[in-house]
Parts: sequence; structure tokens; C-alpha cells
Amino acid sequence: MEAAMSEQSLSTPVVIATPNTRKVFVKTYGCQMNVYDSERMTDALSKDGYQATDVLEEADLVLLNTCHIREKAAEKVYSELGRLRDMKKARAKDGREMVIGVTGCVAQAEGKEILRRAPAVDLVIGPQTYHRLPDALRRAKGGERVVETDYALEDKFEHLPAPEKAKTRARGVTAFLTVQEGCDKFCTFCVVPYTRGSEVSRPVSQIVAEAERLVDGGVREITLLGQNVNAWHGIGPDGTEWGLGDLLYRLAEIEGLARLRYTTSHPRDMDDRLVEAHRDLPALMPYLHLPVQSGSDRILKAMNRRHTAAEYIALIERIRAIQPELAISGDFIVGFPGETDQDFEDTMRLIETVGYAQAFSFKYSIRPGTPGAEMDGHVDEAVKSERLERLQALLFRQQREFARTCIGKEIDLLLEKPGRMPGQLVGRSPWLQPVNVDAKTSEIGDIIRVRITDAGPNSLFAEAIR
Ligand code: SAH
Ligand code: SF4
Ligand code: F3S
Repeated sequence: MEAAMSEQSLSTPVVIATPNTRKVFVKTYGCQMNVYDSERMTDALSKDGYQATDVLEEADLVLLNTCHIREKAAEKVYSELGRLRDMKKARAKDGREMVIGVTGCVAQAEGKEILRRAPAVDLVIGPQTYHRLPDALRRAKGGERVVETDYALEDKFEHLPAPEKAKTRARGVTAFLTVQEGCDKFCTFCVVPYTRGSEVSRPVSQIVAEAERLVDGGVREITLLGQNVNAWHGIGPDGTEWGLGDLLYRLAEIEGLARLRYTTSHPRDMDDRLVEAHRDLPALMPYLHLPVQSGSDRILKAMNRRHTAAEYIALIERIRAIQPELAISGDFIVGFPGETDQDFEDTMRLIETVGYAQAFSFKYSIRPGTPGAEMDGHVDEAVKSERLERLQALLFRQQREFARTCIGKEIDLLLEKPGRMPGQLVGRSPWLQPVNVDAKTSEIGDIIRVRITDAGPNSLFAEAIR
């Protein structure tokens, strides 16, 4: 399972290409918003005759869509660029060209510094200017080393091609849809407000049109994305400003769209309408990713999260009172500057109180340019490791406990892909757990009724019910 903004490595899906077409290989790091952007960039390039490939060796254009959230995430990019440089050199000897581009949050944060550190790179494009990618590529091919990291005045979503039906089909029955970008919260540990800029919400009409196209292409589940998704406040068709709750009620009306999710939410932006949507909309899955980062009020204040541990717990109680089926997932940072043993114990206590179905946890990583980097009391790496280990053991125990409570339950399962065994299919439970089921008479995209029979460490097993 992926957190909204957890680090991971993914490649674009395989597309069979005819000879002589140019091919683009996109490697995606970071959060789901990058996954969405990679698809949009691939779509934009297909207009120029590029087809996506997952075979690096055959690519004419390689794009690394990068993440800057933690130091490790950013450093991975430079080691990958080292490998690509060697490949580009070998290619050049054979008289073949290979264009290398860096996109995403490292591109935005480091800009032309990337060209200096990695001379093989031909173009650097920040997340706000992906619609200019085809033009930038033409310039790069003309010998220019292109850096595009200005915040564009025009709306990138309006200029990026909408997902095509055939491509949507190939991508499967679940899809991401970015509704909001950027962040105005300025948590003191976080680079996102700098790499993605200030909050921008897409208008309702644009989102509904994109959702309808996806459904038309066979998508049955849409996850709305935003760095701060529940801060979304787009203009409705009536000219007034809508909140995320209103948007979900509207999207739930789309025929054929069976499931809705949204991620990542900030505790400060969970308004009543959004909470009520969890009660009223059967399509809205009972799962909420609501990061808290720490259970210590002192640390929450230093992080500029602008709520207390008690307020977070009260919020969760309020949502659970309205939707008892709701499972909570979260993100945690251990070893933020100034974190004492007591602060850490407060985090452990909060976890015990809330009970998480799933969570992502990280050691604090110093990000240059953020206020946290300048704070006193940086915590020793060994202490961070020790705390992370204890925290993860507790979270893992809770995840297993939650999975065990699912055994015996009857649920609807959206079948997403073939399983490992013949006749087996894999879907996701309402709570985002992968579920394996023998379903010989069903196909991908069906929603079937199943009973959970067993729980492994990372997935569930089920039998189909007639
Ligand atoms: N917008 C979301 C998450 C943003 S980033 C929120 O407000 O919660 C995804 C996760 O990465 C964060 O929740 C946090 O747990 C982690 N993260 C962000 N910056 C980090 C840093 N400097 N060091 C370690 N983890 C960090
Ligand atoms: Fe980063 Fe905080 Fe914004 Fe989340 S809310 S993206 S942690 S600044
Ligand atoms: Fe990483 Fe940027 Fe997402 S920093 S987590 S790719 S918004």
C-alpha cells in the first residue's frame, strides 16, 4: 500500500510500440501526485509521437520524475543520473541519441544546480510547467540545456491533454485525479510549499469532466489527490466556492463510478460537510489518511501543525461516531528537533489511543531551506533509529490486529488485477488492503461480494459468495 506521499519507485505501464516510434521511459519517485503527473506527461508527449516503454534500454527520452521530501529521496536521483550518464555515453558511440530530463520536486528545488551536478541532463522541468514539456524537448534537441522552474501563470491542467480512453483502459480500473496542488501550511519540516508552490484548486467542471472521461474509459474507482486535498476549494458551476465534501457528493452522482477515495488530508481541514459525506455516500470508502506526525503538543507546535493531540483525537472520535466503519491511517515523524523521550512516549500513547489500520513513519530528515533545519536540538541518528523501530513495531501490530478483525466479514471487492495463482484475482478492500480471491467467473473491474477468510502480513484472503 502506498501513502499519498510516501517514497516509492514506479515505472509507467508497458505500451507496445511500433518500430520507428520514439519511446519515453518515465521513472516515478515520491507520491501519487507524481504518478498522476507522469501519466499526464506521457499523454502530452504522445501527441509528439512518443510511446511509453518500461524498457530503459530502448528509450530515446528518459524522464526522472523526482521527490524531494527526504534527503534519501533526493540523493537517489543523482545515483540514477550517474547510471544514465554512462548509458548515454555508450549510446553516443553508436550514434544514437538519448535525452535525459529531470522533472518533479527535485527539479523545482534544485533547478540549474542539477545541470551543474549532472552534466548529462538535458532538461529540468518543475511540476507547474509540465504542459511546456513538448516545447522544452524541442529546445533541448536543438542543443539548449533547458531549465523551466518558474511558477507558470497559465493553468497547467487546462493545457495538458485529458486522459484518452484507450490509455485509461490500459491503466486499469482505478485512477488518480489531482484536484488540488501545492500547500500553504508551511509545516516546519516540509519542502512541499517550496517545491509545489501555494495552494491551487481546480474548478468543479474540470474535475467532473475528467472523472467522466475516466469512467468512460472503464475506471470504477477514483482517488482524488492533493498535497492537502481537503483544503480543496474550487469554483462550482454555480459560481460559488465548493468544499471537498460538496465535490464528493457531486462525483458520487456519476453513473458507473463505484468508489471514491481522497488523500492526503490535514486535520485542520476536515469540515462537517466532508465528515457527513462519509455517512451519506456509499461510494466514499471508509478509509481516511489523516497524518498527525507527532503526539506531543510541544512538537506539534514546533512543527507548525496548528492543532493539539487532543484536538486530533477528538476529530477522529467525531468522524468515527458518524461512520463507525472508518479506518484511519497516518504518517509519523520521529526525531524532529527537540523531541525528548517524553515527547516520543506521547506519540506512542496517541497511537495506542487512535488505533491505526495502516501508517507510514519516517526519521526526521533535515531539509535545507525549511525552518526545522535551523532549529536547535537535532536528535542523534541512533536515537531516531531506536524510536522508529519501537514506533513501527507498534504500528505493525495494530495493522495486523486490524486485518484480523476483518476475518469473517463480508465485503464488496473491486477486482483490479490477476493474482499469482491461476483463477485468482486481487482487489482492494474498502480499507485499501489487497485481497486475494479465487474468482474464475469474474473479471477485472467487477465488484463482487466476498467473505474474508484469512489475513497475511500485508494482504487478506477471501472466498466469493454467491
Ligand atoms: N500533506 C501531508 C503529507 C505531506 S509529505 C500532511 O500534511 O500530512 C508526506 C509525509 O512525509 C509527511 O506526512 C511526513 O510524515 C513525511 N515527511 C515530510 N517531510 C519530512 C522530513 N523532512 N523528514 C521526514 N519525514 C518527512
Ligand atoms: Fe507539507 Fe505540512 Fe503542507 Fe503536508 S500540510 S504538504 S506536511 S507543509
Ligand atoms: Fe515528494 Fe514532491 Fe510528492 S517532494 S512526496 S514528489 S509533492
